[in-house]
This record gives sequence, structure tokens and C-alpha cells, in this order.
Amino acid sequence: MAGVVGGAFLSSVILVIREKVNSKNFRNYFHKRLGRKLEITLNSINEVLDDAETKQYQNLDVKNWLDGLKHELAEVDQLLDVIAIDAQQKGKIERFISGYINRFESRIKVLLKRLNVLAEQKNRLGLQDTTRAAGNDGVVSSSFFYESVMYGRELENQEIIDCLLSDSGSDNQVPIISIVGPIGMGKTTLAQVVYNNHLVMEVFELKAWVHVSESFDLVSLTQSILRSIHSSAADSEDLEILQHQLQQRLTGKRYLLVLDDVWNKNGNMWEHLLLLFSRQSSGSRIIVTTRDKEVASIIGSTQLLDLKQLEKSDCWNLFVKHAFGGRDVFEYPCLESIGKKIVE
Ligand SMILES: Nc1ncnc2c1ncn2[C@@H]1O[C@H](COP(=O)(O)OP(=O)(O)OP(=O)(O)O)[C@@H](O)[C@H]1O
Ligand SMILES: [Mg+2]
Repeated sequence: MAGVVGGAFLSSVILVIREKVNSKNFRNYFHKRLGRKLEITLNSINEVLDDAETKQYQNLDVKNWLDGLKHELAEVDQLLDVIAIDAQQKGKIERFISGYINRFESRIKVLLKRLNVLAEQKNRLGLQDTTRAAGNDGVVSSSFFYESVMYGRELENQEIIDCLLSDSGSDNQVPIISIVGPIGMGKTTLAQVVYNNHLVMEVFELKAWVHVSESFDLVSLTQSILRSIHSSAADSEDLEILQHQLQQRLTGKRYLLVLDDVWNKNGNMWEHLLLLFSRQSSGSRIIVTTRDKEVASIIGSTQLLDLKQLEKSDCWNLFVKHAFGGRDVFEYPCLESIGKKIVE
């Protein structure tokens, strides 16, 4: 199995490639527009490398993306070296002619195309420009921004996974598991951990994560679900077209849909939406997170998980993680006792 790819390492490879693209050799062989395009693509990939490095441990798709990127960058770098050697071996006139009969051009264009595909995929994978995201408080949940460690909740986690992997459920109604609990209880965290569980990843052909929140109408929700499944769809404002697109994507697939942070109590709307999911739903599942039990009931949950407070020891571990960061709590005995009082 390929090892873990370091984002910092790939960043340095990109830096080297950019220097080569800006060199005289490259400029002698290619139109400057091609060099510019290559640079733009490399920059846009470079922005998300830190984020990808972190997420590759929890998300196999991100890891595969990094592996693919490493491969393509190695090819680009190798080709640029071949061009540099070629340039050294040729005289001025031959180099001038090379500009017209350029045997490297088609190759570099193919590599640029492949890098562009990777650059497009970064959005679908939810990879973020972490430098720009720093200091942004408007946190919107996604399947990717999840805690690397979830304290406690082993039983709840297992209960949901068992339900996701079981064969039960009818062909006419997709089972809906609702995780209910007050603000900050860890509903989204639990759903994220389940969503990224390796068995769940293997079993479900299609997975979609939608942060629903208070802004909700059928068109925008259907668009969001489509986007989460496939980024290029969902341009239409016409509900029928959107539903048709969604139906096409779902047909014959075992899917998992997470509707995170649901507030809406409009039963008709939910009925309308869920009808679409209930056809040919064999093995498929929906997970809902909500603060409100009534919402869970209106949606027609088949299973309700009422999240209670974490065990004391798990609360303490969570507190230590946030209050002390990576530092050793035993070095601060005074703060430790204050912390324990807060947790209690
Ligand atoms: N069991 C846990 N282990 C680790 N971190 C947790 C746990 N439970 C909650 N957290 C942390 O607490 C914070 C709030 O959790 P989360 O967003 O999952 O709550 P929520 O129930 O979804 O809240 P809301 O009702 O506002 O959507 C997050 O920073 C999360 O990482
Ligand atoms: Mg939440």
C-alpha cells in the first residue's frame, strides 16, 4: 500500500516546478499563456495541500487524491527536466525551430489537463484553503471538518453503524435515523464519525452530506443534495428537473444521506422530498441531526437516538483537549482542579 503523502513535501515539489516553468528554457519552448495556465492550476492545488494532508487520515478519497497528485507532479517535473536537457543540447537556431515543431507541447497539455481535473476535484472533496479560512467563525458543518477524536459515544456509534449495515428496511420507505439532543451535545460530531467509518464507506455507493439549518426550501435542499452527490449538477431552479436528476443519480444505488441540523417542521415538504428517496431504496439510509424531537417525528424517523451527556471522564478529556491544547495538563495542577470543577 502506498504510504502517506506529505502536503509539505508536495508544496515543495510545486515550488520547484513553478521555478522551472518560469525559467528561460520553458519560455523558449512554450507560449507564455501555457506557463501561466500551469501556474494558476498549481497555485489553486497548493492552497489546499495542508488541509488535504490532515484529512487524508480520515478520508480515503482525499488520500487517493494526494497519491494521484504526487504521481502527476512527478511526471510534470520529469518532463521539465527532459526539456531542460534538450535545450542545453541544442543551439540557438535549433531551439528557435523547436518552438515551431514542439514535440513536448502535446505532452505538457495532457499533464495540465490531468492537473486541472485534480484541481476541480478539490471542491468536491471539500478541501479548503486553510490559510484563508483561518479566523472564519461562520462554521458550517460538513462531512469533512470532523474531529479526529470522538470521546465516548461508543454505544451510540455502534448502534447507528449496525442500523446502517443491516439488511432490514422495506423497499417503500428508506429508514431514517434521527440523532436528537440539545445544542452542542455532539450530534454532528457523531454523524461525521459514522459517515467516515470505513465499513460505511465500503457499503454505500453514494454518500451525501447536507447542512440544512434554518434556511430551507425544497428547491434549494434538492440542489444541495445533488451538489453533494455530484458537483456539476444542480444548476436548474426547476424542482421537477432537479428531482428527475436526483432520481437518476439514486436509481439502483445504495445511498447514505445525512441531513445535518434540521429545523423545518413542514410535514408536507418533507413528505414531498422523502417520496423521492423512498423508491428503490433497498439498503439505503438517511441520518438526520436535530435539536428538536418534534422535527424527528414529523420527518418520520424510524429510529431515534436521544443523545445524553457524555460520561464524566469523556467530558474531562474533551475539556482538556480544548482548554490545554497539546500541553500536558499535569504541568498545571492549579488549572487542573479549576477545570475539573467546570466539567462537574
Ligand atoms: N464526543 C465528542 N468528542 C469530541 N468532541 C466532541 C464530542 N461531542 C462534541 N464535541 C465537540 O463539541 C462541539 C459541538 O459538537 P457538535 O457540533 O457535534 O454539536 P451539535 O449537537 O451538533 O450542536 P448543534 O445543535 O449546535 O448542531 C464540537 O466542537 C465538537 O467537536
Ligand atoms: Mg450540529
